[in-house]
Amino acid sequence: MATVRSAAQGILADDNRAQREQIIDLLKKAYWMEIETVMSYIANSINPDGVRAQEIVESLQQDIQEELGHAQQFAQRIKELYGVVPGSLEFASEQTYLQPPEHQTDIVHVIKGVIEAETGAIEHYNRIIQETDQIDPVTQDMVIAILRDEEGHRRLFEGYLREYEAEGLA
Ligand SMILES: [Fe+2]
Ligand SMILES: [Fe+2]
Repeated sequence: MATVRSAAQGILADDNRAQREQIIDLLKKAYWMEIETVMSYIANSINPDGVRAQEIVESLQQDIQEELGHAQQFAQRIKELYGVVPGSLEFASEQTYLQPPEHQTDIVHVIKGVIEAETGAIEHYNRIIQETDQIDPVTQDMVIAILRDEEGHRRLFEGYLREYEAEGLA
């Protein structure tokens, strides 16, 4: 049986194995960031009390689906690059800033935590865009689209924070 010819060019080429593995590591980190964001946004879309929290809660409910979609895209791309999507035992939490506040009416804590999470994603995805430049345009293209979502999320929550600051509540 004839062996299958491997790609001679691009990120799937044998010669690019080292760079491919480096990109897979970056994608795994992105995958875990999205998974942890889903966990944090579920908790923070349900815990808050009070009328003021309603808009934040509804906004986070929508974001959960988007972040879940991002996690699935990162996982898919890991596989396409001959990687293996990690199992749950490899997960390590990092989002100290999105833990439940002491008082569930403290919605400013949630808003600031979301901004922090989105900022972390924006920084990591900009790094992936840089690291994939010229070598993996498909991953780069995917991450550019995801980066736009995160910038939109961050901008939305910055707007919420401005409103609270204007009212002297943050
Ligand atoms: Fe995301
Ligand atoms: Fe986001």
